[in-house]
Amino acid sequence: MERTLIAHLPQAIGQKVKIQGFLHTLRDQKTMQFLILRDRSGMVQVAFYKKANPELAEQISRLTNESVLTITGTVVENPIVKLGGLEVQLETLTVESLAEAPLPLDPTAEVLPSLDYRLDWRFLDMRRAPVTAFFEIQTTLEMAFREYWLQHGFVEIHSPKLMGSASESGAELFEVQYFDTKAYLAQSPQFYKQMAMAAGFERVFEIGPVFRADPSFTSRHMTEFTGLDMEMSYIESHEDVMRFLENMLHYVYQRVAEKHAAAIEAHFGVQLEVPSVPFPRIPMAEAVEILKREGYTLPPEKKGDIDPGGERTLAQFVRREYNHDFFFLTDWPWTVRPFYHMRHPDRPDLTRSFDLIAKGTEIVTGAQREHRYPILREQAIEKGLSLEPIQFYLDFFRYGCPPHGGFGLGLSRLMMVMLNLPNIREAVFLFRGPNRLHP
Ligand code: 4AD
Repeated sequence: MERTLIAHLPQAIGQKVKIQGFLHTLRDQKTMQFLILRDRSGMVQVAFYKKANPELAEQISRLTNESVLTITGTVVENPIVKLGGLEVQLETLTVESLAEAPLPLDPTAEVLPSLDYRLDWRFLDMRRAPVTAFFEIQTTLEMAFREYWLQHGFVEIHSPKLMGSASESGAELFEVQYFDTKAYLAQSPQFYKQMAMAAGFERVFEIGPVFRADPSFTSRHMTEFTGLDMEMSYIESHEDVMRFLENMLHYVYQRVAEKHAAAIEAHFGVQLEVPSVPFPRIPMAEAVEILKREGYTLPPEKKGDIDPGGERTLAQFVRREYNHDFFFLTDWPWTVRPFYHMRHPDRPDLTRSFDLIAKGTEIVTGAQREHRYPILREQAIEKGLSLEPIQFYLDFFRYGCPPHGGFGLGLSRLMMVMLNLPNIREAVFLFRGPNRLHP
């Protein structure tokens, strides 16, 4: 007999079915037993009249919560059952896997243990409905990104994560033993997506792992995360990249809202708003002035940069003045951007770059890249980089390379913002941080 998903039971009223899933709860009454069975599509009540088979009733009594069961029975309408107005009348039961008791983490508990403890037992934590919903939403989100890129002529690449040199900066670099030499885990696909521009691909994207040996313990940093990166050729400035990005996010939010608005409201208490385009743009110089007016003092060591508190203050300003949750911070000082960002021709102290801030959190960094070999080389020297380890990268620009730009977006950052999650540790399948390599 083929398995029927619980969500499809309304189409099987009066029929005999086979259902499989976890035992969510068991109510063992005097004459009846009620099992709530849970699969990926939902939950259903299974009823058993004890007198029909006392031996089987005895077996059911001994079942533990979260055991995996195969049940056959007949689907009947029952308007008093809260779960969908139907139940399955149990005929046979097979215990596929008996769960040990007590559970270290009970997915049905009203009160949750600490986040750290939940991460220790993440596979049990993930049996909770909001976590399941999270991954369904994330799947739609990633699909929408891919759809948008494919509709706009992009090609998908998978760049290597083992590298012979740093891909962003020397800091935050994981070193690994590579036979009798050293390798480094890729801090971004930056160099290789630019290589694809030099190869004439014109438009590429990559969804892949990014590694940062960043010892910070904030609610938005991980040592390994999934990056959504793209690069496009024949742009005139970073403005072209921002326009592409805002339209793409508008599309992605729309796709997620179409499919998951109700679940997002039910599980996360969020009424998903599709962001209107264009997003406000604030040049960095102006942002600094706004922060002064708002009475926010930037920490002195952040010269030319904006700290998370500053980002939040600006976000409040943008919400108030533009009624928007998203804004671009543009034209960052050269001092705080990597060597490969293009400078403004008339303002060499500024770069053609941007960050995208969403609800006070940075979710994207992007820029037009310097594609002219002599200038790029000079910029690397000016930043004090040794050229030898990055010569392979510099070579990409020696034999004709179109003007281009792109961005990197952190998947978990975006999910966190979209669903109003307080901590990035909940916005990822398994969190990796300075103190966490398990499970
Ligand atoms: O700002 P980042 O470091 O920029 C780059 O990697 C550039 N190569 C991108 C480009 O094309 N110019 O990282 C990009 C995004 C950030 O905006 C953030 O969303 C996310 O990646 N991110 C992190 N997410 C979680 N944990 C961390 N430690 C992160 N660091 C960056």
